[in-house]
Amino acid sequence: MNFQPVLTRHVIQPDSHTLKGYERNWGHRGLRKALTMTSPQIIEEVKASGLRGRGGAGFPTGMKWSFVPQNTGKPSYIVVNGDEGEPGTFKDKVLLENEPHMVLEGIAIAARAVGAHQAFIYIRGEFTDGIRIMERAVAEARAAGVLGRGVLGSDYALDVAVMAGAGAYICGEETGLIESLEGKRGHPRLRPPFPAVEGVFRCPTVVNNVETLAALPHILERGAAWFSGIGSNPKNAGFKLFCVSGDVKKPGVCEAPLGIRLDDLIETHCGGWDGKPAAVIPGGVSAPVLDERDFAIAMDFDTLAGAGSMLGSGAVIVLNNTRCLLRTAHRITRFFAHESCGQCSPCREGTHWLEQILRRLLDGRGREGDLALMRDICEGMMGTTICVLSDGCAMALLGFLDKFGDAFEAHQKDGRCPRSR
Ligand SMILES: Cc1cc2nc3c(=O)[nH]c(=O)nc-3n(C[C@H](O)[C@H](O)[C@H](O)COP(=O)(O)O)c2cc1C
Repeated sequence: MNFQPVLTRHVIQPDSHTLKGYERNWGHRGLRKALTMTSPQIIEEVKASGLRGRGGAGFPTGMKWSFVPQNTGKPSYIVVNGDEGEPGTFKDKVLLENEPHMVLEGIAIAARAVGAHQAFIYIRGEFTDGIRIMERAVAEARAAGVLGRGVLGSDYALDVAVMAGAGAYICGEETGLIESLEGKRGHPRLRPPFPAVEGVFRCPTVVNNVETLAALPHILERGAAWFSGIGSNPKNAGFKLFCVSGDVKKPGVCEAPLGIRLDDLIETHCGGWDGKPAAVIPGGVSAPVLDERDFAIAMDFDTLAGAGSMLGSGAVIVLNNTRCLLRTAHRITRFFAHESCGQCSPCREGTHWLEQILRRLLDGRGREGDLALMRDICEGMMGTTICVLSDGCAMALLGFLDKFGDAFEAHQKDGRCPRSR
């Protein structure tokens, strides 16, 4: 299939981030159509498109919106997750900086679908350019009547506020984000109630990723059938931004249909592998690592889940055969230990214990039974905490132990990396 990029088609134009550039390229056609439709019609269209969240969990977007209760007497809110904290992920940054009006159009469509009149865009604090560009885009859209009392001349009102985070990974988790947005420490909340019922200020709230929202104008304009015809199948539909980093010749963000083969993605979009690939993390560091048996896998939600991993945020990290995979596993675990919010003991303690065991293995001080001990700790960290940061840490390490346990064993026995010989 000859796929033409959609989300990134115009990002190299110097004025793609301005309202003038956006009007010329896309023209708010999706939102204009949405304004002629009822809320249930918009939700049905998005359900039929097969769009699934691009933030990590892959939850069907239209279904999420349908959980928002109507006529509660409370306002409903849209929250845009622009925290982009998953290591190796840098796609939302590209959209925030280069296509802010596409994101705003997506927000307006989502808001119209669930009857929200206020949206919050939560952007990670380090994205200073993204924050500035998005604030300017909101002001421009307000002045031009794209946002405000009468969206594009209709009787529908919508305002958008831009909020900056402070670089905490846990504030990307939707309920941690909501707490942070309310001015509190970013501690995830117990569910139920889910944000759709009780989110920001205990009101019905939809939290969607930046990339998820950016797909909406195109789905509304070109129709659900067009979108669901792209990708592997209707359950794994559409296009995706992949963030490719590590041992490839040309790392970067590339847009491709869901289901593109991993080796095809690297060879056609990233200039090829750099060195002999040994391991690939396919969806951000929480996604269990793949080995060479899976280097031709279809990059979609269900195929990766079937292989024991996940598409996650679409961050593809390539490691060639010169890399010490124990060192990589240690770095990842150290990240989770540092970012654990500390509310739940299995996560607070488990991430640190794992980090310490990996550290001693790396330093040549590994003990017999360390691999089994790590597996045991991982078991205790899954399904036992408020959010899935803990599960992400455990799943990632179990992936390394399952696929590269021999190398870890050799580290423990010889006190050094088998690749350093
Ligand atoms: C620890 C943790 C960190 C997360 N970080 C992000 C993030 O940076 N950006 C994001 O969109 N989703 C992140 N998520 C997923 C969100 O909780 C949520 O599923 C997502 O924003 C929903 O949007 P979507 O349905 O459009 O994908 C994270 C989840 C966890 C458990």
